Amino acid sequence: MWPTWWPTFARWPKSSLTGALKRHRSLHPLSEHHHHVLVQALQVRRAGTIPPSRHAAALERVARSLVRFWKKTGQKHFREEEEVLLPAYARHVPLNQDEAVMRMLADHASIRAAFHELQAALAERRLVEEGVAILGRMLHDHVRLEEEQVFPRIEATLSEAELLALAPRLTRLYRTKKG
Ligand SMILES: [Fe+2]
Ligand SMILES: [Fe+2]
Repeated sequence: MWPTWWPTFARWPKSSLTGALKRHRSLHPLSEHHHHVLVQALQVRRAGTIPPSRHAAALERVARSLVRFWKKTGQKHFREEEEVLLPAYARHVPLNQDEAVMRMLADHASIRAAFHELQAALAERRLVEEGVAILGRMLHDHVRLEEEQVFPRIEATLSEAELLALAPRLTRLYRTKKG
């Protein structure tokens, strides 16, 4: 069953990419991932609105696509935020005093757990409808938290040299031929 708290499209805020376009170029790799996740979250939302006969199959397709992204890129994205981005910020700000960062880290644990559960459900051919709907919403909200609160604070706090030093340590989603 579709969660009643899931907002309609009309109530969805404008894409967080409005903010991502203004990102410091060193953070573009992370924002590219965020864009990809927002597109997938919209696919989850859309899959929930199609006729019930095709609803479950569509959600399962999106669930499999999300899990593929998680394995290939999402897990690494979380690690880079935790191992590269936040330690750089922690040189300036005690992280336990930044509520948005604390929520970001709590989200990471919850999203990891949700992916774990979704993968188990897919492997056991259990229904994934509610699980993927909740995960889609979690991912959407998590991206908004980072793009609207966490990243702007980090950009405002780190020096230009510190921001530039992050770039080589962050993996791009789409690599050019030159890499
Ligand atoms: Fe994150
Ligand atoms: Fe992120």
